[in-house]
Amino acid sequence: NDKFTTQSFAAAKQKGEKITVLTAYDYSMAQILDGCGIDAILVGDSLGMVVQGKESTMEVTMDEMIYHCKCVARGTKHAMLVGDLPFLTYQINREEAVRNAGRFIQEGKMNSVKLEGGKIIADTVRTIVRAQIPVMGHIGLTPQSVNVFGGFKVQGKEEGAAQALIEDALALEEAGAFAMVLEAVPEDLARIITEKVTIPTIGIGSGRYCDGQVLVVNDILGMYSDLTPKFVKKYANLKNSIVDAVGGYISDVKTEQFPEKQHTFSISDDVLEKLY
Ligand code: KIV
Ligand code: NA
Repeated sequence: NDKFTTQSFAAAKQKGEKITVLTAYDYSMAQILDGCGIDAILVGDSLGMVVQGKESTMEVTMDEMIYHCKCVARGTKHAMLVGDLPFLTYQINREEAVRNAGRFIQEGKMNSVKLEGGKIIADTVRTIVRAQIPVMGHIGLTPQSVNVFGGFKVQGKEEGAAQALIEDALALEEAGAFAMVLEAVPEDLARIITEKVTIPTIGIGSGRYCDGQVLVVNDILGMYSDLTPKFVKKYANLKNSIVDAVGGYISDVKTEQFPEKQHTFSISDDVLEKLY
């Protein structure tokens, strides 16, 4: 059984093996990433921006998340699946949090859930974990708090804020999270957090010393250009490839170079005769 699990997360940190995570939102992409041997796939609420074209992640609903989770789960065999709890589905009270986290497992076929916040959400994390649902934490630049932060800004630059982030990380570990995302945290602070907690840290824009990395798949493939943060590395420019391919198709159809005989179906001459 080569399924990546919460145990694999712990074992990877112990062995010093980096953990690889990417987002996916549909069956085809999940199947490709899974075939590449990615350790975990996150169905992120980033789908609000990259799939739905919304301005933030805050408008994404539970039902939309569950729909995308189902699609991704059908394409995944090996990777550990993480479903992202959207805004206001775990902040109101712990009962709602468990119910919504449970839907990700029961309906969305995820193996775990992710939610944003440190100390203030630790009791909720503990309650969800008690319901036998593995939780990935997420601290630093948590996009669901963008209205409080006043923009997408690096978190933990001042001493007080850095200290608070360390406490958030320790609170998540203590609450039973199996891993945590560190987003847009200064590299040296991410290093300190990674050394202080025994669970793996998965960095995005948080430098070289995290136990693993996560990025939005559309960003690394060059398919989403509304916003490209400094921490993204583009491994392909699929937007250009698509522009070339679609341009070729349009031109072939207009100039009658597509379809060709090889793309067509035939009917026997006997039948054809009777039709004239
Ligand atoms: O929604 C998302 O894709 C995320 C990752 C970028 C960590 O939360
Ligand atoms: Na997210």
